[in-house]
Parts: sequence; C-alpha cells; structure tokens
Amino acid sequence: MVSEECRLLTNEPIAPDHHVMTLATSQIAKLARPGQFVHLRIPGTYDPLLRRPISVMLAERAHGHLQLVVRVAGRGTEIIAKTAAGSLLELLGPLGTPFPLPGEGGLTGEGDVLLVAGGVGVAPLVFLADALREFDPPAYVRGLFGAANEDMLVCWTEFAARCDEFYVTTEDGSAGEQGLITEALAGQLERGQARVVYACGPVGMMAQVAGMCREVHVPCYCSLEQRMGCGVGACLSCAVQAAGGGYVRVCKDGPIFAAERLDWEAIAGEQQ
Ligand SMILES: Cc1cc2nc3c(=O)[nH]c(=O)nc-3n(C[C@H](O)[C@H](O)[C@H](O)COP(=O)(O)OP(=O)(O)OC[C@H]3O[C@@H](n4cnc5c(N)ncnc54)[C@H](O)[C@@H]3O)c2cc1C
Ligand code: FES
Repeated sequence: MVSEECRLLTNEPIAPDHHVMTLATSQIAKLARPGQFVHLRIPGTYDPLLRRPISVMLAERAHGHLQLVVRVAGRGTEIIAKTAAGSLLELLGPLGTPFPLPGEGGLTGEGDVLLVAGGVGVAPLVFLADALREFDPPAYVRGLFGAANEDMLVCWTEFAARCDEFYVTTEDGSAGEQGLITEALAGQLERGQARVVYACGPVGMMAQVAGMCREVHVPCYCSLEQRMGCGVGACLSCAVQAAGGGYVRVCKDGPIFAAERLDWEAIAGEQQ
C-alpha cells in the first residue's frame, strides 16, 4: 500500500451522476489486483473530512494509468466527480483483498467463470475479466450485467469486450431482457457449467446470488461495499456480521469475501 498524489488525466461524464476518471499513478496501477480499491481524497481540502473508497476498474501497468468509475451518492463523491482534469487527487492504495483467481485459494476444478454485476458494481468485474483473459489456461468468461435502465449500464462496453458471452437485464426493459440479473443467473447456473461465480452490486442482489450459488454448490465471491473510516483495518467502522457470529472488516478482511463467510441476512437487513 502506498500514498500518492495523482494527476487526474480525464474526467468523463458517462451517464447521469456517473463519471469515468483516469489518473496517472507511479505505483498504484502497477500494484493493484482485481477487487482492490483506492481510498481517495482531494488534497488540501478537509471537505469531506474522510476519504472515499472506490474500486479499481482498470489498471494499465505500462503507463501507470488507473481507471475508476464514480457514482455520485453524496457529498464526498460529488466533490470527487466535480474535480477537473489536471487536478491532483490523493490516493491510498491498493487496499483490501483481491478476488482469488481460479487455481488460487483452493479454487480448483473445470468450467466457466460467471461474473455478475449490478450497476456501478461492474467496476471491479471489468478488472477481473481483464485478468481472466490473460489467464493460462484461458478462462471462459460469462458476464451478466443488470441495472435499473439502459443509462445505468455504465461501462458495459468495457465489460462486454472482456467476456466470451455477455447477458444484460434491465428492470424497465430498456436494454436486454426485462427483469433482474438474478433471474438471468438462475438460467446460467442451470447449465451446470459454472466453476465459480464472482459478484458485485447492491447488497440485496449479492445476498441472493450467494444463496443461489450455495444451493448448487458453486463457490461464490462477493465484493462488499460498506461505509469506511480509516480504510486500513484500524477503526472498525466498516465491520459487518460474519457467518457463525463475530464481525469482519470490509476494508482489511475484504472487500472480497467468500460468500459463506458472511451473515447475509444481517448485512442486508442493516443496509435497508
Ligand atoms: C470497497 C468499496 C468499493 C467501492 N467502489 C465504488 C466504485 O467503484 N464506484 C463508486 O461510485 N462507489 C464505490 N463505492 C461506494 C462509495 O465509496 C460510496 O458511494 C461513497 O463512499 C459515498 O460517499 P459520499 O460522501 O458521496 O456519500 P455519503 O454522504 O457518505 O452517503 C450518501 C448515501 O450513501 C450511503 N452510503 C455511503 N457509503 C456507502 C457504502 N459504502 N455502501 C452503501 N451505502 C453507502 C449513505 O448511507 C447515504 O445514504 C465503494 C465502496 C467500497 C466500500
Ligand atoms: S474502515 Fe476502519 S477498520 Fe475498516
């Protein structure tokens, strides 16, 4: 983990309240692995006081470029999204645990890899799909992307370009199949060819994905979002309930968790 002042190279609005930002880093892009995040602050201001966690969407190691997608959710992300190209941002990272890749962390076996994204949760899965393309032997990747409507399918071209098969659902039917992405996942799991599922999106979606994978005995890894303070394991403000009792810290023990490690009912209940 390093702390860097990084130049914001581009800041492109891509949908209502969503921006894609490219930053020049000297080390973070080289160190980052899919699933990790940066803790981001505008230097010289203490408004807002705390940093904000944002997943790495792509890391171009050769040039040290880091790409992020920022959804305006409140004051902090609004300030970040309004930062002009050319400004400096203070990044701490890469932080947190990466997704275990097939072959790592006891993740063995044959079959396809399923990536399930909800809304801005697509960000870490674009990076993961990128890493899986370079995997030896190559993984066959099926990408599933769900959002409220077509506008909210942010960065879908970046995601689709890195998947062998790609499926879309929207709640209003403005793109892809009308419905929820979990309905599409049910059909994909019925094919019986999945070796692992990786998911990132709203907690309700991930709780359902976790339950569906458990039923068919397919390993599942989720990227969890939680309000953070320090981002490095010291303050416990990001603690969530673990399965079987106790707590885990999203910033340090996660944000990537094997689905069975978490008490989904408690976590989803708390975030409602
Ligand atoms: C590991 C990680 C990766 C993330 N990656 C991205 C990303 O790639 N792109 C992106 O746009 N956002 C991402 N987020 C979410 C982002 O950090 C929050 O939206 C942001 O911190 C909100 O800050 P704010 O000051 O804008 O809003 P606040 O004013 O702090 O909050 C606005 C509203 O959002 C709720 N909220 C705040 N933080 C969270 C949270 N973490 N989870 C759920 N609800 C929250 C608050 O309760 C409030 O209702 C990530 C979060 C984590 C933990
Ligand atoms: S944010 Fe401080 S322990 Fe996780």
